[in-house]
Amino acid sequence: MNLVKHIAIIMDGNGRWAELQDKKRVKGHEAGAKIVKEVTTYCSHNKEIERLTLYAFSTENWKRPRLEVEFLMKLLDNYLKNELEVYLQNNVRFEPIGDIRAFSKSLQKTVKMVEQKTAHCDALVQSLALNYGAQDEIIRAVNSLKNSKADITVQMLSNALDCKHNVDLLIRTGGDKRLSNFLLWQAAYAELFFVDTLWPDFSVKELEKIVKKFKKVERRFGGLK
Ligand code: FPP
Repeated sequence: MNLVKHIAIIMDGNGRWAELQDKKRVKGHEAGAKIVKEVTTYCSHNKEIERLTLYAFSTENWKRPRLEVEFLMKLLDNYLKNELEVYLQNNVRFEPIGDIRAFSKSLQKTVKMVEQKTAHCDALVQSLALNYGAQDEIIRAVNSLKNSKADITVQMLSNALDCKHNVDLLIRTGGDKRLSNFLLWQAAYAELFFVDTLWPDFSVKELEKIVKKFKKVERRFGGLK
């Protein structure tokens, strides 16, 4: 049976969830943040899961209306400040990926504060992808290696990425079947699960069902059985 060490999730469908209930899109993001907490807590108590990487804000999300972007920034700031206690209680290390230099100074400060205060935690690493795009990540990594005298190897590039760990299981909620510039390198051999559930309706129960299916998949990594 496959081990599920690294789960990555594209949390899609917040806006549609809210619109279906005649609510503003941002209400969907608010509801989505609650599921982030539930799923993180569950993963922190599951000994097999070492990493949970969540797509919270992409390099493309800046194209959204200004008010929605501002709301997401505020939500993230509040979430991190409020959750610090929960991270510590559940022994969760927070490790952001992405280029947070585009964020306001105060949000950058919050991100770094939570990262530092949870640096000793070791039950789970929760990575939020913040102003993250896989193409941007790979370009930043390549640029950081451009003065290398030796030819660049797979290992060198892997180590230069924000996320240095291969993904075992990648889930996308919300019904679409695409990767949307998320962990393109690290998902090279990930098992992909696309579910119709909108992110605010996602649950630990559904995650458990997906993990159960994942465990039975025959992973060959390009080899033979
Ligand atoms: C996609 O839904 C979701 C996002 C762009 C943001 C993800 C944010 C959260 C889950 C909540 C905040 C998270 C944290 C960690 C505080 P969408 O808006 O694209 O939904 P749609 O496809 O229905 O429009």
